[in-house]
Amino acid sequence: MGQEVGASLSFDEGRALEIIEKLAHLEGAMLPILHALQEAFGYIDERMVPLVAQALNISRAETHGAISFYHDFRHAPAGRHVLRICRAESCQSMGCEGLVDHLRHAHHIEPGQTSANGVITIENVYCLGQCAVSPAALIDGEPIGRLNEARLDALLSQLNGARS
Ligand code: FES
Repeated sequence: MGQEVGASLSFDEGRALEIIEKLAHLEGAMLPILHALQEAFGYIDERMVPLVAQALNISRAETHGAISFYHDFRHAPAGRHVLRICRAESCQSMGCEGLVDHLRHAHHIEPGQTSANGVITIENVYCLGQCAVSPAALIDGEPIGRLNEARLDALLSQLNGARS
């Protein structure tokens, strides 16, 4: 199993501005800035939106649009572990939607959410290049193939039990 995802930093306007200003001169600076902010803080804090908009001379709505369009950006700090479930075609044909339903009903968590105890965040991803072993997922960046309900249950109970 993978390492824990690093703890998110709390919002620091000075640090965020430093990152934004360093990259704002790039052509198509929006995505590099958002990625750098997420790498530094673990998510895109709402308070970063006006800073990015101002630096790039665009509206807050455009900045929000980019953040919501790309699935990679988190709106809140992640849990200590991140499970990314592939929802693309091959994994769909092999039952990933059933796994997402199972998460909802048996574990009360779904993509886009973090468990109440802060242990796990579930996210969607769209093709991991692991189609041959669909349905596929990543746990803290490490691939898992041929995922099924039993393996999912075991994984969640291991993560919750470890409380690392
Ligand atoms: S479609 Fe899921 S890994 Fe390719």
